[in-house]
Amino acid sequence: MNIGIIGMGGIASPHLSAYSLNRKVGGIYITDVSERALRDAQDKYPKVRGTFQDYRQLIEEAPIEIVDICTPHYLHYPMVMEALRAGKDVICEKPIAMTLEEADEMIDTARKRGRRLFIMMNQRFMPYHKEAKRLINEGAIGRPFLAIFHIMGNEFIRMNDPNHWKGSWDKAGGGAMFDTGYHAVYMMLYFFGKPQAVTAVAKRLIVEPENKGDDNTVAILEFDNNVLGTIAVSYTVLSESWKETRHIYGTEGSIHIRDEVSEPLILVKDDNPFPIDIEFGSFEDSIKRALDHFIDCLSDGKEAEVRAEEARDALEVCLAIYEASRRGEKVIIKGGVKE
Ligand SMILES: NC(=O)c1ccc[n+]([C@@H]2O[C@H](COP(=O)([O-])OP(=O)(O)OC[C@H]3O[C@@H](n4cnc5c(N)ncnc54)[C@H](O)[C@@H]3O)[C@@H](O)[C@H]2O)c1
Repeated sequence: MNIGIIGMGGIASPHLSAYSLNRKVGGIYITDVSERALRDAQDKYPKVRGTFQDYRQLIEEAPIEIVDICTPHYLHYPMVMEALRAGKDVICEKPIAMTLEEADEMIDTARKRGRRLFIMMNQRFMPYHKEAKRLINEGAIGRPFLAIFHIMGNEFIRMNDPNHWKGSWDKAGGGAMFDTGYHAVYMMLYFFGKPQAVTAVAKRLIVEPENKGDDNTVAILEFDNNVLGTIAVSYTVLSESWKETRHIYGTEGSIHIRDEVSEPLILVKDDNPFPIDIEFGSFEDSIKRALDHFIDCLSDGKEAEVRAEEARDALEVCLAIYEASRRGEKVIIKGGVKE
């Protein structure tokens, strides 16, 4: 299979590395508005067989079956739609889109045209997350009742630049919650389903430009199966930034997930910690696992482990978090089960 990638920024590197190692991928064709980014990628990855300065030209002229979209959020919808209409299968970076209407139209168009749409929810492919889900399902912690997820990151420089798309309302759809909180949201939905309500405070505490969204947000998610979840995200943490932790408490134990090479997953029962022997799996590794899976789905006609509808539900929750913060009250999520 030949793949066309749109956008040669930060996230394109792990995509290019994954495709370079995947034997089912033949040629890669790339496009970016920056000539330098195109040259750099072409020099580094021998599978790159052609470059285009206009993404429409790539979609129409490159000999590709798949389009992979790695651009800022506001471009996901138009680029996905053009690729689907041109008969391509599509992989798109998270979040799926900026609005629910866009996401629904993308999913609907893929279905009507018989094409596949994969959204990059790479954390679903991390071995410790899969194992945590298995442990919960087999009742290892009894009935889960409380989940506390943290993403302590630092994107201060890009967010504090008023001209950078990162964290802007118009090009990114919001700040830390929309950008990275999306990962915590789709993971919480994976463990507990769609929440019925959210309450939240989303603030721009440190970042100055007024066109930027939240840099620190705390949200509470209520699930109908009597689980309470809280998500705290920051894009301005200076010490020990880029730490993610996930704690899940149940009636018979708890699960603790840490993005640390040693003991990334710990099951606690009767106050005794049992570190689970599991591969750590870096961020890059999760991107590779996700892309390999998408390619296998296309080559073997398999159902995907992550569905675009789940990416759409995560978007709905992120938008509800912003609405709850704006209104200063609880927001009920449609289809997220009764009060
Ligand atoms: N899955 C993850 O964990 C993860 C991590 C980082 C970023 N991302 C996502 O990846 C996407 C890109 O983020 P990034 O950090 O790589 O951004 P970036 O700003 O580093 O790169 C974006 C690239 O898109 C290019 N671009 C902009 N407009 C274009 C156009 N019209 N045609 C072609 N190229 C165009 C830019 O020149 C730039 O090279 C976002 O959706 C982001 O949320 C995902």
